[in-house]
Amino acid sequence: MKYQSQKVALYYFGGALALFVVQVLVGTLAGTIYVVPNLLADVIPFNIVRMIHTNALIVWLLMGFFGCAYYLIPEEAETELHSPGLAILQFWLFLAGALAAVVGYLFHIHVGREFLEQPLWIKLAIVVVALMFLYNITLTVLKGRKTAITNVLLLGLWGIAVFFLFSLYNPSNLILDKMFWWWVVHLWVEGVWELVMASVLAFLMIKMTGVDREVVEKWLYVIIALALFSGILGTGHHYYWIGTPAYWQWIGSIFSTFEVLPFFAMVIFTFTMVWKGGRNHPNKAALLWSLGCSVFAFFGAGVWGFLHTLAPINYYTHGTQVTAAHGHLAFYGAYVMVNIAMFTYAMPQLLGRAPYNQVLNMVGFWVTSAAMAFMTFALTFAGVVQVHLQRVLGMTYMDVQDQVSLFYWFRLGAGVFVVLGVLMIVWSLVVPGARTREAVGYAPAE
Ligand code: HEM
Ligand code: HEM
Ligand SMILES: [Fe+2]
Repeated sequence: MKYQSQKVALYYFGGALALFVVQVLVGTLAGTIYVVPNLLADVIPFNIVRMIHTNALIVWLLMGFFGCAYYLIPEEAETELHSPGLAILQFWLFLAGALAAVVGYLFHIHVGREFLEQPLWIKLAIVVVALMFLYNITLTVLKGRKTAITNVLLLGLWGIAVFFLFSLYNPSNLILDKMFWWWVVHLWVEGVWELVMASVLAFLMIKMTGVDREVVEKWLYVIIALALFSGILGTGHHYYWIGTPAYWQWIGSIFSTFEVLPFFAMVIFTFTMVWKGGRNHPNKAALLWSLGCSVFAFFGAGVWGFLHTLAPINYYTHGTQVTAAHGHLAFYGAYVMVNIAMFTYAMPQLLGRAPYNQVLNMVGFWVTSAAMAFMTFALTFAGVVQVHLQRVLGMTYMDVQDQVSLFYWFRLGAGVFVVLGVLMIVWSLVVPGARTREAVGYAPAE
């Protein structure tokens, strides 16, 4: 840590970790309801539990991104943050908005679109939060050094805010409604969030491998060019069956296939940088998360995405457990892991923990990642059986659900291990590791 104002990131990292725990606990509750269907049905119905699970995910990932930006930008721009006070105010406003939304959900105050269930006034509060954030970081970048990393990060973060505006546009025509819904959901995770991910990974590579900035920047430009080239028209893979013209089946199939490339490039990028770098950075755990992130994102988004992205295949798999398998591994690999990589790199420095519990953090990495992989396999098997019974043989939906219930038990088992792994990660980052102080020779590098 070079700049005092980078410390505001701690609020965001702390808040994000707390919500991460809530998210996986509530996910496990949702997984339990799947196998014990009437559990809590009169208190909190499944749809509300599910909404809290997915909304907590999105909110903590965004909170993490805000924190990453507040940590990274002063260091890259070589200047203090424009207004640390505003950043802290923004944190509390965002947290209050998120909690108000959850309380509202418990009382069934929500609107219909998945992931965007927040009532209008919460959405407007999010816009205010975004404006405070963009104002703060943009002024910081403008007064400081401009690097490829700050430019790409800013582009990504502005993109997130701009596309969020489409959540306010709610046409009554169902086809248009779905079309613009994807402008938020797809253009976020397969567009502008990738820019954030790539720039955070690039920052971590510069810091930890010692490879020249020029080399890292070239990779960064290639990755974001691939992401935008493929991801924008790739939105078409959601336009196959919603009432849009049939040419989307071609456009969506072709361009979304190219979407695998930026994720593949990120794997090659991180591994090449680590091999070439040759610097033995003491924060092995942060390096592990960075490499793990590119690999899991490649499998979750790239491989599991490609699995069902061609229109003739999606015709059968649309909206089945195959989709859920992909959704879990992609979100985990790309955006959960990039956040934890940054937290693992930055939090020991921000908290001044010379040796921190690095071994526990790495055990947490393996437990969580293995459990998420297992969950993905369980859901994929469930999905394949579901597609065959339901879409090929024509069995009814609920009869098919009975047939695949074993896989839902496997998912629940995996979920318990995810919770355990997440608790290890959080513990390693938040609780000082006094007893490992001698065992792990971690000294905070700059
Ligand atoms: C990190 C990036 C990604 C994330 C976080 C992600 C996440 C998701 C999620 C959550 C859904 C379910 C949406 C819903 O209906 O509620 C979904 C659907 C889908 N994703 Fe991804 N995805 C990513 C990248 C990709 C890529 C690169 C591809 C293609 C190569 C892809 C192909 C698809 C397809 C075809 C669907 C529609 C499934 C259906 O018809 O039911 N995704 N994705
Ligand atoms: C970091 C870890 C996790 C991430 C990133 C994540 C992400 C998601 C996403 C994106 C969805 C919506 C999926 C879709 O529409 O296709 C979802 C739904 C769900 N998740 Fe998770 N989740 C995580 C952990 C868990 C855990 C540990 C469990 C425990 C079993 C769980 C159980 C569920 C269930 C039951 C649903 C509802 C599925 C449905 O409606 O059929 N999740 N999660
Ligand atoms: Fe998509």
